[in-house]
Amino acid sequence: MDTGIDDALAIILALNSPELKVLGITTVAGNAPVKLCSTNTLRILEHLNTNDIPVIEGMEKPLKQPFSGALGYHGPDGLGEINLPPPKLHTKSTLAWEFIAESVSRNPGEITLIATGPLTNIAVAFQHVPGLASSLSRIVLMGGAYGLTQYGKGNRTPFAEFNIWQDPEAAKIVFDSKAVISAIGLDVSMNPSACLTKYHLKQIQKCNNPHARLSAELIKYIINRHTYFELHDPLALTAALDIPLFGFISAPIEIITGDGWDRGITRILPKEEISHHSAYIANTVNGERFLELFLSRLCDD
Ligand code: RIB
Ligand code: CA
Repeated sequence: MDTGIDDALAIILALNSPELKVLGITTVAGNAPVKLCSTNTLRILEHLNTNDIPVIEGMEKPLKQPFSGALGYHGPDGLGEINLPPPKLHTKSTLAWEFIAESVSRNPGEITLIATGPLTNIAVAFQHVPGLASSLSRIVLMGGAYGLTQYGKGNRTPFAEFNIWQDPEAAKIVFDSKAVISAIGLDVSMNPSACLTKYHLKQIQKCNNPHARLSAELIKYIINRHTYFELHDPLALTAALDIPLFGFISAPIEIITGDGWDRGITRILPKEEISHHSAYIANTVNGERFLELFLSRLCDD
């Protein structure tokens, strides 16, 4: 996770999803410098009295490209200036790639990696442990803009989605691996039917529990500045809940690396392109059902 606001909401949703057991969170440079992502992750967990989920700090920069960040959107503290106190909890001293590799190797076929930031940590784990990808259950990731819907355009460049754009070399390693990938891209996460509005914020503000109150504070920062709040990361997390919210196509994906105008493009290749592994790419979403689920999980008193 590159814990900015929507990553934080994905953590809150995960804590309210009995379908998941969160074994740990690795942080990665993305929305914010990795140390701030770690602090923000710890702040959220601590505020919700959750101290049994290890947080492991990951890569402070992409494999090849310079760190860029997106604090202009998430606020100077990366969490919409909600001013939670500095956390008493600390990150674990293990390396993020080792935590991923050990968790997966100890539970072959059982672990789903849910990636809501650049794929740097996962790529490094795959580089250190060839064959790790085949031991995963799957990877559910928020990333890419596949041109499958009218919303499937870029948000960091006109062509590329931020998580992939920030570390295209890492994304190439992950998409070229043997992992089973479910990719939730902007094609569905920018669909207004799946986006929060001030109407939804008002509903959440009526809910009287710590998760809903914290979520409302986080959401308010965005809703005060934008008409829609695209819940990229909570939406991606729901793809791991096995609730039928999405339609998918399966296709080989090429990631454009380097730092040219086409950096971070996620290109769907013809099916017969056997040089690339296929991934499942979301092309439809039941936005209304997603928002119902999101609000009901937050507001269950
Ligand atoms: O492009 C949106 C993605 O980039 C989200 O995961 C957001 O948190 C940022 O990481
Ligand atoms: Ca993110």
